[in-house]
Amino acid sequence: MDSYKKLDMASTDWLTTHFLAKSADRLRALASLHIEPGCRILDLCCGPGLYIPYLLDLVGPSGHVTGIDYDPISLDAAHRRLRTLPHHNWDLKHVDVNEYVNEMPDFDVVLIFNSIGYFRDPFRVTARIAERLPSGSSIIIKDFDLESVFIHPRELQLWCELLQAAKRRNDSDNPVSFDNFFGRKIHTLHQCYPFSFHRNEVWTQLMTYPFNHFQAEYIWRNVECLVKQSGNECSRATAGYFLDFFRFPKGEFFTKSDAIFVETEYLTCVRK
Ligand SMILES: C[S@@+](CC[C@H](N)C(=O)[O-])C[C@H]1O[C@@H](n2cnc3c(N)ncnc32)[C@H](O)[C@@H]1O
Repeated sequence: MDSYKKLDMASTDWLTTHFLAKSADRLRALASLHIEPGCRILDLCCGPGLYIPYLLDLVGPSGHVTGIDYDPISLDAAHRRLRTLPHHNWDLKHVDVNEYVNEMPDFDVVLIFNSIGYFRDPFRVTARIAERLPSGSSIIIKDFDLESVFIHPRELQLWCELLQAAKRRNDSDNPVSFDNFFGRKIHTLHQCYPFSFHRNEVWTQLMTYPFNHFQAEYIWRNVECLVKQSGNECSRATAGYFLDFFRFPKGEFFTKSDAIFVETEYLTCVRK
């Protein structure tokens, strides 16, 4: 059970590696979301608040960003990050989303990044948020799907075995309840409420040889996560192959001049 908990990709450490591995594309991706100056934003499940400095730049001094999360360690990291900024138009709240939604104030945009798969019923949570929001406001939901990573080179048959085992365990034996394969369902989330508008998108991240330190660690941790999640459902030989070939920092994968890692994240933007 203890090692299974480590699959939780919510630690500040993991999220920071993740963030830095993709940092070159972050601003461009967020700028594409049409977040206007003056917007009041809720960063739902903000974790260590990695997105908040960018959001503050997008909304400017007349806007406001609220981050909420129920993990005090992540919020502490967020506080330390935001305290160093010149902006004062942010606040952080230590609260469970399930409670917060009942009393939620008005926002123009609610972001739910890499978190919707943590809820037992993501469709219900999205609908409850929509019910509370004023007309014209938006919810932007982004999540990943452990299956939608393309890596080359790797043994295709072993890769399929690993994915199948991880998915099986995700669905049938998941004591921590979050769904690491929720990305595939993001584009159907708009069906939970009669939104006036929705737009589905994908964001892709391309990493190629030679990988920087953060990219290599990120690739390794994705593979490690899949191996842990597959548990006993995957043969020892297959798990061993992946742990060996992709081990950070010296795994053979990182020496291959044709090595490539492509990750797809799924987004939906819905408007009330
Ligand atoms: C994978 S992290 C994502 C953090 C951040 N959105 C990001 O993309 O960097 C998921 C976050 O959701 C938070 N979380 C999950 N369920 C929650 C709930 N019911 N109420 C508040 N926070 C929650 C966790 O504490 C964690 O910080």
